[in-house]
Amino acid sequence: MKLKMIKDDIFWVGAVDWDRRLFDALIPLPDGTSYNAYLIYGSEKTALLDTVDPSMTAVLMSHLEDVKNIDFIISHHAEQDHSGALPHVLDKYKSAKVVASPKGKPMLVEHLHIPEERIITVNDGETLSLGNKTLEFIHAPWVHWPETMFTYLREDKMLFTCDLFGSHFATSDIFYSDYWHVCDAAKRYYAEVMMPFRTTIQKHLEKIKKYDISMIAPSHGPVHKDPECIVGSHQEWVSDRVSNTVVIPYVTMHGSTQLMVDYLAEILADNGVKVEKFNLAVADTGKLAMSLVDAATLVIGSPTVLSGAHPVVVSAVFLANALKPKLKFASIIGSYGWGGRMVEQIKGLMSNLKLEMLEPVIIKGLPKDEDYKALDRLANEIVDKHKAAIKN
Ligand code: FEO
Repeated sequence: MKLKMIKDDIFWVGAVDWDRRLFDALIPLPDGTSYNAYLIYGSEKTALLDTVDPSMTAVLMSHLEDVKNIDFIISHHAEQDHSGALPHVLDKYKSAKVVASPKGKPMLVEHLHIPEERIITVNDGETLSLGNKTLEFIHAPWVHWPETMFTYLREDKMLFTCDLFGSHFATSDIFYSDYWHVCDAAKRYYAEVMMPFRTTIQKHLEKIKKYDISMIAPSHGPVHKDPECIVGSHQEWVSDRVSNTVVIPYVTMHGSTQLMVDYLAEILADNGVKVEKFNLAVADTGKLAMSLVDAATLVIGSPTVLSGAHPVVVSAVFLANALKPKLKFASIIGSYGWGGRMVEQIKGLMSNLKLEMLEPVIIKGLPKDEDYKALDRLANEIVDKHKAAIKN
């Protein structure tokens, strides 16, 4: 099989998963994904960088059909979408060694039952020579697991970053022509997986600044020939800057909460605030996560069900809390029929979010004049808070 060449002696040998629509039984993948593996031929040794998801093992092995020998398999990350085919590769290449970080080794043993003696560990900054090519390992814990590392291929100025800078984006092209399409997929991926580790990723972006990088090869989605674009996008996402945006995830049962959400959204928009509404009965949770990457404010809308928030809202708030977006402000709006503890319940689910809670607007039944006035008050407060918090 003809391999896809990236540069002289560097090939893509991964698998494109066009049909996958869900990751971790949670994360929507509207554009499919790819599991990228790369083969590097040095003058003396050959290295395979990562493998593929277990479901795509046959594809990887078909790409390796004519590869006689592999000396090293670099495992940047023990998660199974990249390490799952390792046992098959080790079975074919009996003398190959897996190269992992010290934290990666026990994870490969635990999750894949790789024999310990087949794994060697490398420290941060350690190098491995393939002859005329040198691999430098850069530890990057908590891209979202604790063991992750990158590889810098010195002579070719290529940085292999595993999940970081990746995108769940199935394509037959190694490179892309439409950056913004890939950037959108990368933002979704960052939001769903890496946002909780924002401050750690800030450090990783700082750490790679000293490297002269001509190309970034992640383990999902296309390779970046213009690293500045994708690095710049990530720098913005992980920065402390927020945008003049209010995200409103909500659900409505008999229309009261819908009326409140629509009214608040209109007043905010009239005052120059961007609003992103997500009716959770039909919303794509990936898009909701993306909207939280840089929004200044979250307003949760819920009716009262069995004395608490609607369960769909509870699920969304739980997710937002786990993703730890850089929100500055939040509030809660909604209605009740005869009572309840919806506000206390929602606030209790937001303990990770270090933000200022603005006075909620909770009403009985359909909104009346004084309820719309309370929404005016909330909108004005948000507008004023944004003016003070968002500097151009
Ligand atoms: Fe693509 Fe964290 O695995």
